[in-house]
Amino acid sequence: MKGMLLCGGSGTRLFPLTKVTNKHLLPVGNKPMVFYPLYKLKEAGIGEILVITGTEHLGDIVSLLGSGDEFGVNFTYKVQDKPLGIAHAVGLGKEFVGNDDFIVALGDNIFEFNMNKLTERFQKDNRSLIVLKESKTPERFGVADIKENNLIRIVEKPKKQISKFVVTGVYFYKSEIFNYLPELQISERGEYEISDLHNLLISKNRLSFSVEEGFWSDAGTFETYYEVNRIYGKV
Ligand code: TTP
Repeated sequence: MKGMLLCGGSGTRLFPLTKVTNKHLLPVGNKPMVFYPLYKLKEAGIGEILVITGTEHLGDIVSLLGSGDEFGVNFTYKVQDKPLGIAHAVGLGKEFVGNDDFIVALGDNIFEFNMNKLTERFQKDNRSLIVLKESKTPERFGVADIKENNLIRIVEKPKKQISKFVVTGVYFYKSEIFNYLPELQISERGEYEISDLHNLLISKNRLSFSVEEGFWSDAGTFETYYEVNRIYGKV
């Protein structure tokens, strides 16, 4: 299995912290934010990781992460010229991934899911797998519509309550997803949406899910950035 760590995007919601610094380099507790998802990929036994970032911060990201020796992994870097969305960033991994299974982690997601358990489940089921987590504010996220334990669809930032289960930023993918990505259309906000990919996979019965209890948060808004620092700031 391979891994992808997404460190692109604009980080506008953390402006001006992100005016000259890449969001994923900001401190969370005593470490840069990106170390948290990186350690989780490592926990899943992944040694080959593709890091995606924009043009502005590639140098800083490489300065921090280096070859991967320090972490016991091997990094490959790829530039996303424009922040065209998470699904677009994932698409940049096509050659790197080849025919392997892979895990994508968003570089601003901090989570304590058991990666070995999830990997085992993913490998048994032989479909791509998304990780869901109960949230008090599902309207801020992609929400899973589940009926009789079946995933029906993902609804992005629903106005009406669909469920409490939101899609977290760690995705277990089969390489077949690269065949589906070209079918996605750019959204109104100018991005290739990962929820569109997931809905396409659902329509082909190629997506499963796991509901997890462990801690999860993104760190991309002032509210959540403060919250993860409150939790991880205790040394
Ligand atoms: P988001 O938080 O959705 O987007 P963003 O990082 O651009 O922030 P903002 O909305 O405040 O401007 O991104 C989630 C993760 O996905 C984050 O870790 C960065 C990554 N990402 C990419 O790698 N490429 C992209 O084009 C986008 C949009 C996000």
